[in-house]
Amino acid sequence: MAGTGLFLITFLIVHAGINAMIFFNDSGETFNTWAHFMATNLIVRTMEIGLFLGLIVHIVDGLMLYFQNRKARPVKYQYEKASASSSWYSRSMALLGTLILIFLVIHLKDFWLKTRVTHLSISPAEVKVGGVMMENLFLEMVEVFKNPIAVVVYVLGCFSLFWHLFHGFRSAFQSLGWNYSRYAAAIELSGSVFAIVISVLFASMPIAMFLGWVH
Ligand code: HEM
Repeated sequence: MAGTGLFLITFLIVHAGINAMIFFNDSGETFNTWAHFMATNLIVRTMEIGLFLGLIVHIVDGLMLYFQNRKARPVKYQYEKASASSSWYSRSMALLGTLILIFLVIHLKDFWLKTRVTHLSISPAEVKVGGVMMENLFLEMVEVFKNPIAVVVYVLGCFSLFWHLFHGFRSAFQSLGWNYSRYAAAIELSGSVFAIVISVLFASMPIAMFLGWVH
């Protein structure tokens, strides 16, 4: 779980970094150029297979862990005060992960499916940047986030992602045995900062587009 989790964290950093280029307010030229590079580069496309495999292993591992934990204690404690020894979000990783999975299905249908299987819903779907024709993924984003329901779904997805990362980051270090007490505070702080920055950055994209701040 820790290995695939850290791998998925790397993906999130790259994904958020490229998406953040919409904030250049250059009609999506920089963002479209990078999205085009990611979609056409052979190495990146090969890594995409690794990404989906990593995601599946992470989900299957998580479910196995969840059912193992339940099997280990089929009879509940007579008096349970779980909050005394653990936080609600650490006990809710499976629930948070499931919410993220629901978000991901909607999200992949919104973008990935349209670039890889069907086609973009905007017209014209292509734009010329620096003499190169490429898909206008930026305009597709503008279109998707005109819908307030989509904005709410994305913000809720980012909220679940925040709690999942908030616990998952430090938990990964512990699982790998990298929880030396000397670095514990630094790991905890980096995990919290990372969870906040990545979730707020992602959530700011649908909001900014809906409000017309990005063009
Ligand atoms: C909330 C703001 C987000 C926006 C605006 C956004 C936008 C996009 C876009 C435009 C694509 C399509 C790229 C392409 O097909 O070339 C994409 C792909 C993807 N996104 Fe997001 N994304 C967001 C958040 C997230 C989050 C939070 C996750 C994970 C938890 C995520 C996971 C993915 C995955 C797995 C893909 C497919 C990757 C691939 O093409 O190989 N995204 N996203």
